[in-house]
Amino acid sequence: EMNSFTNNNIEKIYITGEKKLTGSVNISGAKNAALPLMALSLIINRDFNLYNVPDLADTRLMFDLLFDLGIKINWKKGNLNFDGKPKKDEASYDLVRQMRASILVLGPLLASKGSAKVPLPGGCAIGSRPIDLHVMVMEALGANVTFDGGFIISSLSNEGLKGGVINFPKVSVGATESAIMTAVLAKGQTKILNAAREPEVTDLANCLNKAGADIKGVGTEVLIINGVKELNQVSHSVVSDRIEAGSFAIASSITMGNIEINNINPKNLTEFINILKLTGTKVEMFNNSMNVSCSQRPKPHNVGTDPYPGFPTDLQAQYMALMAIADGKTLIKETIFENRFMHVPELMRMGAKISINKQEAEIYGVKKLKGAKVMASDLRASMCLILGALAASGTSEIDGLYHLDRGYENLEDKLTNLGAIIKRSNEL
Ligand code: EPZ
Repeated sequence: EMNSFTNNNIEKIYITGEKKLTGSVNISGAKNAALPLMALSLIINRDFNLYNVPDLADTRLMFDLLFDLGIKINWKKGNLNFDGKPKKDEASYDLVRQMRASILVLGPLLASKGSAKVPLPGGCAIGSRPIDLHVMVMEALGANVTFDGGFIISSLSNEGLKGGVINFPKVSVGATESAIMTAVLAKGQTKILNAAREPEVTDLANCLNKAGADIKGVGTEVLIINGVKELNQVSHSVVSDRIEAGSFAIASSITMGNIEINNINPKNLTEFINILKLTGTKVEMFNNSMNVSCSQRPKPHNVGTDPYPGFPTDLQAQYMALMAIADGKTLIKETIFENRFMHVPELMRMGAKISINKQEAEIYGVKKLKGAKVMASDLRASMCLILGALAASGTSEIDGLYHLDRGYENLEDKLTNLGAIIKRSNEL
């Protein structure tokens, strides 16, 4: 039988659209919280437990990366137990190049070993994804950083990590996480200005404070961290995935369905929910769930992506699928990434009418999309195409599934349980 890699290449998803989605769905733990939280195993060295970790290609890659560094990990369903310290200071090239988020091991590895060699993570479809702000963080905390042979090489003088001031010229989720995970063990105080406020950053800081770190201002753009000598044993449940929840909310809107979305704190999606309501979708919010229903064609509403608490860039492509059938014209501005419109030409193959001018897309809503053969280019683009296919007449074939498997746990099962006609198969 063919090896898994070959299967990935030819697996496709087939969706027959125009089915109203109804029922309830349980949202999984957030990929973008789980990845930095797993990296904490490099600095929380005794009996560190993480619950509600989604089983995804990316979390499996982070597992492999940490295991390769010498951390003992036991993974039972969504629960991970970590033990031990890293045995080496060099992260595997073969693993790092497969996932940009691998850069998150740089800080904790440096803090743990006094030196760290991490291959430069590749760019990806949505942009060049520089890591200059991560390097700025390490230097601000006393590290010497050079580049050689495709590696970031960082080392500490015998004074070790020293607290400092980190003033971000732009908001960066990953670099804020690098700063937090490294400053918690630095001598003295670190002040982080213009810090990212995403719920996943907050979840990381909350876990560290439970482990004995001293982080003030969590959830705001100014963080004050007083370094501690070491971190204690801790158990933490990963915050649920607001991007997955937002994706299912749009699945309800775009099929004029009625879905109860469980295990989500709607407060983490305030701006997104406000916009969705303005397009004519009904959203009832409870403290750990929300009910999303729609009985009319969406009305157009312009959006610009922003760092949290603004409209999330990770929901831009999904929102565009909804606006593709809106009753009018919508402007969508992407301000975070330089190339996050790859889903546009594929959506147009379904009959969407969209024109792009630099960072702005103009969407002229059509009454109906038509099923087509489309190719996913990145994780959130694949969800956009699935949403378009769920609303389109006829059957769509979606290729490039390995992007999808990076970020959504059991997606087909969840959609099938809501009444979608969806199946994944290999080309025969
Ligand atoms: C995180 O990426 C998420 N990934 C992304 O989700 C998300 O889109 C992004 O934050 C924005 O919310 C994870 O958490 C694993 P950034 P990150 O640093 O940290 C520039 C998904 O689909 N920048 O906030 O890499 C960067 O190029 C992924 O799950 C620098 O210039 O994003 C971008 O334009 C996609 N220098 C902007 O900052 C740096 O050193 C914001 O990026 C770092 C970033």
